[in-house]
Amino acid sequence: MDGQHKLETEVHALPARNVHQRGRNAPLDEAQLLDTQRAFDSVAADYDGPRGNNELIQRMRLTLWDTVHSQLPAGARLLDLGCGTGIDALEFARRGFHVVATDWSPQMVERTRSRVAAAALGSRVTAAHLGVQQLDQLDGKFDGIYSNFGPLNCAPDLRAVADECARLLRPGGRLVFSVMGRICPWELGHYALRGRFKRAGVRAARGATAVGMNRHTIWTYYYLPREFYAAFAEHFSLESYRALSLFMPPPYLVDYYRRHRNWCERLGRLDDRLGGLPLLRGMGDHFLIVMQRR
Ligand SMILES: C[S@@+](CC[C@H](N)C(=O)[O-])C[C@H]1O[C@@H](n2cnc3c(N)ncnc32)[C@H](O)[C@@H]1O
Repeated sequence: MDGQHKLETEVHALPARNVHQRGRNAPLDEAQLLDTQRAFDSVAADYDGPRGNNELIQRMRLTLWDTVHSQLPAGARLLDLGCGTGIDALEFARRGFHVVATDWSPQMVERTRSRVAAAALGSRVTAAHLGVQQLDQLDGKFDGIYSNFGPLNCAPDLRAVADECARLLRPGGRLVFSVMGRICPWELGHYALRGRFKRAGVRAARGATAVGMNRHTIWTYYYLPREFYAAFAEHFSLESYRALSLFMPPPYLVDYYRRHRNWCERLGRLDDRLGGLPLLRGMGDHFLIVMQRR
């Protein structure tokens, strides 16, 4: 996948015909949801390797961990939407939270279950095969719901997700989501400099865009923070949002980062200091948004 989501097994090999735009606001159908499921199933085994969990990803991950931790007391009950291999769920379990970890990819859920078993944290983490489009099948009340690295960019109906989050979250509870944004200056520059203008503009697409990964397709929606929040506004107040990897290169440019580590670390510190400022906070590879249940 090229410049999208965080796991990049084909960093240079996304043929133009694999990136195309569907009609504006066309909902995803079952076949497309299965495309996305197969894509993530196909990479689950390698997901924790250097491309899926490299230094740049870990840096962004830490921001979500600390944000959740600062918003909710230890012991709180959390729901993870699109848990992947369970890296976040395990971290929160270690920090004393209780987590229900869900994902649309059965292979990812299996990886989470293995991770939980290996850490003997089964009393704190439950893993379930459940897509964000199936949250009506989930019962219970949560203090917080988080989603890291773009699962909600794959949601076929974000308003329906917001309604289900409102049902599942206690009043005053928090949502903490990291979402792929529309304006990623690094990505624009990276591809424009190589003459790949169509690729540089892929995040501008309206509606779902087909993005290739590991010879599969992930159907992806991109959002500005205000577009994303609009789906949640009925039930949630907007607490904050900030850029993730705006100055720092996005995770798929980790080789650049490794060649220019000192320079990039300085850029990372700029992210920490400036990423929450007006204008800048709406950009970056991802944005981190915090909302509160009314
Ligand atoms: C880039 S990965 C992030 C995984 C994990 N949150 C992490 O931080 O490592 C995106 C995840 O979203 C999941 N996903 C994609 N579509 C989904 C859907 N409709 N419902 C729930 N999860 C979905 C994928 O299976 C994958 O595990």
